[in-house]
Amino acid sequence: MRPAGKSLKGKALLAKIRADFIGIATPYVNVTGHSIPRIYLDSTASSLMLRPAASITEKFMAHYSNTHSKLHHSAHISTSAYQWAHERILSFLGADPEIYTCFFTGSGTTGGINRMARVFRDLHPKKGTAIISIMEHHSNDLPHRKHMRKVIHVPVEGLNENKMCISLPKLEAALKAGQGQINYVSITAVSNVTGIINPIHEIARLTHKYGALIMIDGAQSAAHLPTRLFYADDPESSIDAFVFSGHKTYTPGSPGVVIARQDHLIKIEPEEVGGGMVERVLEDRYQVKDKFPDREEAGTPNIPGAIALATTIEILDRIGMETLAEEEDIVLTWALTALGKMEKVTVYGGADTASCPRAASISFNIQGIDHGLVAAILNDYFNIAVRNQCFCAHPYVKEMMSDDLEQVFGIINFGDMSPEFMRKAGMVRASFGLYSTLGDVEALLAALEDIIAHADQYADHYEINSENDYIHKTYRPRLAEVFDIKRAVDDYLSL
Ligand SMILES: Cc1ncc(COP(=O)(O)O)c(C=O)c1O
Repeated sequence: MRPAGKSLKGKALLAKIRADFIGIATPYVNVTGHSIPRIYLDSTASSLMLRPAASITEKFMAHYSNTHSKLHHSAHISTSAYQWAHERILSFLGADPEIYTCFFTGSGTTGGINRMARVFRDLHPKKGTAIISIMEHHSNDLPHRKHMRKVIHVPVEGLNENKMCISLPKLEAALKAGQGQINYVSITAVSNVTGIINPIHEIARLTHKYGALIMIDGAQSAAHLPTRLFYADDPESSIDAFVFSGHKTYTPGSPGVVIARQDHLIKIEPEEVGGGMVERVLEDRYQVKDKFPDREEAGTPNIPGAIALATTIEILDRIGMETLAEEEDIVLTWALTALGKMEKVTVYGGADTASCPRAASISFNIQGIDHGLVAAILNDYFNIAVRNQCFCAHPYVKEMMSDDLEQVFGIINFGDMSPEFMRKAGMVRASFGLYSTLGDVEALLAALEDIIAHADQYADHYEINSENDYIHKTYRPRLAEVFDIKRAVDDYLSL
């Protein structure tokens, strides 16, 4: 339980910084020629930049130097700030620094999952099977297909009407059947499609019971939910590896992050080799450092990105992730409930958060209007940014859409790549961040009501382009006038 004073302070801080994001209300000229601020409902893809993280990082840049340099003042400042970034993230995620290490890799979660899949494979080479679920993003599916001999997809099932949660009994059955062969289970903490929250500690307990390791894809949870990776009094429910993206944690430009148990990593040579991770290099041999995280970070890291991310995390922690999750839940529940009641709208995974907790993302369709058309109208007329299609989660989207598509196409074939099929096989996703407000939700609901009421009139204004996208027949936003990188350089130089 958080002390009440701390949560009040957190709420005050949240109120202060909630709108302090770069680009939160960037204006664009819409179809009617009006310049209106954007409503950004695409945070699940990438969240907006927390301004204090950008400005504090800019201050840091006065001292920027390579962390592999040692003796000059800037090197000391850079090295200590970079070290702080690792420590800060470990403590944010409740990962004991004696047991875990944090290292940066790639530009998001994908790099970290690939890396840890290879680490776990090499750690237990005789165990060639990984278990994932069909709920996973492709980045928590394809790496296991590529690096492991076999991948088992655990199904989702309707716990209640239209729920798309992971089936724990089926997970346990797969673990039992494959005991001795299952190297690890890798599951997302939160679906990037339905926002359904998975019980990661229950899954960890089951996984460990059958002698496998547990990796969690934290891409959609780190910025939205309190997370604790290690429980000294309940080690079986602790997580072996957790991976997330800085760019989905209010820090575009920051790296991907892996938090993993040191005792696993120390047993094998690091996946990546190069400068910074070795004690000594001779012509015929080299000696890798024992020290974490150095041995896992070959080459010069993305130092400003890591520092910006740790600054964001410091601020999120000062607000308190429980406070933040409560506040975000108000916006999400409002949106889910209202969308769930709208005629002609199907919300995937259901709309009842009481029996199935959710975070950040809602995917839906309007009957009779293609997802691409809805997304285009929301953008062109209302300046509401959403994502559409299958969100890099084809098996899960397929599971949820089978019935709808069968109605349209008769017999459905998901191998069908016909343009018509592709325009129907997909959803619209509205996703939220800590800056999202009830006002944003109201604007979305009002826009959807208008689209439903005037579907044919809107559709008349659109045609399909060569990329199978809906495009307005006359509206051509002059985006190069809004931002053009070369002109931005010219403008700066002529200052
Ligand atoms: C659940 C989930 N896992 C993994 C990823 C991949 O993350 P990244 O693109 O940062 O590598 C995403 C991206 O949307 C995601 O939503």
